[in-house]
Amino acid sequence: MNGNHYQAKKQWRIIDLIQWTTQFFEKKQIPNARLNAEHLLSQALGLERVQLYLQFEKILTQNELNLYRENVKRRLNSEPLQYILGETEFMSLKFRLNPSVLIPRPDTEILIEQVIHQTPNNLDVTILDIGTGSGNIAVSLAYYLPKSRIVAVDISPDALNLAEENAALNHVEDRVTFIQEDVFSVDFVLKIGQNFDRIVSNPPYISEAEFQTLPDEVRKFEPPAALRDGADGLTFHRKLAELSGQMLNPGGKIYLEVGMGQWQSVQKILAEKGFQNIQVAKDLVGIDRVLIGEKKVL
Ligand SMILES: C[S@@+](CC[C@H](N)C(=O)[O-])C[C@H]1O[C@@H](n2cnc3c(N)ncnc32)[C@H](O)[C@@H]1O
Repeated sequence: MNGNHYQAKKQWRIIDLIQWTTQFFEKKQIPNARLNAEHLLSQALGLERVQLYLQFEKILTQNELNLYRENVKRRLNSEPLQYILGETEFMSLKFRLNPSVLIPRPDTEILIEQVIHQTPNNLDVTILDIGTGSGNIAVSLAYYLPKSRIVAVDISPDALNLAEENAALNHVEDRVTFIQEDVFSVDFVLKIGQNFDRIVSNPPYISEAEFQTLPDEVRKFEPPAALRDGADGLTFHRKLAELSGQMLNPGGKIYLEVGMGQWQSVQKILAEKGFQNIQVAKDLVGIDRVLIGEKKVL
């Protein structure tokens, strides 16, 4: 180009960027390409997604374009959409997210729905959530069971800070107590207390062998301590069954999320610890996902 010709910088409208990025993501085999593009653009512009469609012709400023490019780069590098957005929806509630916590999965909504379904909504129940992460289980239960009191435990202080923020965001902070503790510590029962009506947990249940096979998006970005148990995938279920025997009220129930193919082993673990009326609930794709056991009434 000689000095007499000025080439105008390309101006990008919302619609152009959605179309360009959708094609680009499709080529790079990023699932839900258009949806990803729309979410990343909404975030860069500080707009709700529906607003994009009302402002299709809007031209982005250089600053907005830079923010959007950064988002697209992160997504191309396999970073999960939810970490880039810093939030997600779970049980129709909003949760803030950062890489110190697992991204809540739709499978876990099955566990919560079972607890809600089996707990009269006017009952004063006390619930213990072990491995609370973002607080998705504890906060959802507090929200949908308005007379419940929840104790939520995690080993990670960063996760607990975020979980507390999520309790406040959903206006249930008065009924959820957060405690930092290791479920394997010898004085766990002493520190956390007894007489719970429900104990719930989505523990780390990926075995060492399976961990190596996980997609980059999970293995490189989500906290390993939230995913794997360093052994056969059932270390936490064994510990939780043992603790629940001591920490539940008679007639109280334990709800455990399990990985694909683990339900029979966890059913056996619960039966060996004396739980009765053991039930299994399937997830949305028909995998046995949640084990429920009842502590005997003496
Ligand atoms: C699979 S994540 C579940 C997070 C969240 N409840 C959910 O359903 O998305 C397991 C959680 O257990 C916590 N955790 C791992 N080891 C623990 C331990 N020894 N004691 C207490 N919590 C632990 C992790 O920090 C993580 O937040």
